[in-house]
Amino acid sequence: MSSPGAEDQRKAQADFYAGLEQLYLLPNWAREAESQVAHGPHAAAVPWLWKWSEVRPNILRTVSLVTPEDVERRAIGLINPRLRELGRRGATPTLTAAVQLIMPGEVAVSHHHTPAALRVIMEGKGAYTAVDGERCWMEPGDLILTPAWTFHDHKHEGEGPMIWLDGLDVPLIRSIDSNFFERYPGQRQQALTQPDGASTRRFASAGLRPAAFKWDKPYSPLTRYPWERTEQALQAMIEKEATPFDDLYLEYVNPLTGAAVMPSMGCYAQRLRPGVQTRSHRHNASAVYYVCRGSGYTTIEGKRFEWCQGDVLALPGWHWHAHANGSTTEDAYLISFTDEPLLKYLGIFREQSGE
Ligand SMILES: [Fe+2]
Ligand SMILES: [Fe+2]
Repeated sequence: MSSPGAEDQRKAQADFYAGLEQLYLLPNWAREAESQVAHGPHAAAVPWLWKWSEVRPNILRTVSLVTPEDVERRAIGLINPRLRELGRRGATPTLTAAVQLIMPGEVAVSHHHTPAALRVIMEGKGAYTAVDGERCWMEPGDLILTPAWTFHDHKHEGEGPMIWLDGLDVPLIRSIDSNFFERYPGQRQQALTQPDGASTRRFASAGLRPAAFKWDKPYSPLTRYPWERTEQALQAMIEKEATPFDDLYLEYVNPLTGAAVMPSMGCYAQRLRPGVQTRSHRHNASAVYYVCRGSGYTTIEGKRFEWCQGDVLALPGWHWHAHANGSTTEDAYLISFTDEPLLKYLGIFREQSGE
């Protein structure tokens, strides 16, 4: 039982808090929920796997339901269950992922926005994304950047559905209340001011750059990273230089500086050799993985997520994880995007290796 003195003290505190509340003031020690997370991130997101076998039929169904004309983009978001409970959207607390489709003859009109975006091509051929006056023809496994405030539109001139994975930093930009959006003025598609595939031609070979090329933007001048080159580079890697946590692991970088492709999002490609099981580690960067080829599983905080081609996996920050290739004869390839560059810029990136 508490003493009368303690009772008076509690009442005085409660009166004091009530008085402060009227003035929109709050004592910092009264913010219980936040003090609980002082020793590490709290679970704003859960690990989650979206199966291609479930996503694909649903994105195909949208063809008869909506057009890009109706809805700007025919895209379905991959929503983390925990974030949805919290009334938020996204695959992780900083990253959104969505599957987008265009059909032959369709155009997704030109616009730009302050959230940065990237595409990983999942299926199809004969469509392009135009970015900053350059057409990038898309093929499965390609990475295409549409950095913050660059105009981008999509058009399909081939046959069959064209499907890709969009990755954006929307939750981050919303949290700093800086979400701007604008249509390209006066026309559905932007003016083409560069030859097709210009940036991919400029940086055709690692270690060589056009001597007179000038660039002062905070993102990579290479817009399309063709899968063909990425796969060749992964194949050519020196096996002794495999990393314990990701096996043969390449970062997509700005070819002029070696920095991450965009300030808020970085991208990686990895080859898990047959039978490989990586060691576990954790980092406060969150990531979204796309299974480009092969099958295997990722163990996150002791739970096994079995994946195969086309699946998408959300890894929240500060969760122990390890990857395994389920095949003893075939390589498995993952492409991932992450908020790691942002955390490194802020000087708060943390990583820990497991047993
Ligand atoms: Fe967009
Ligand atoms: Fe990792």
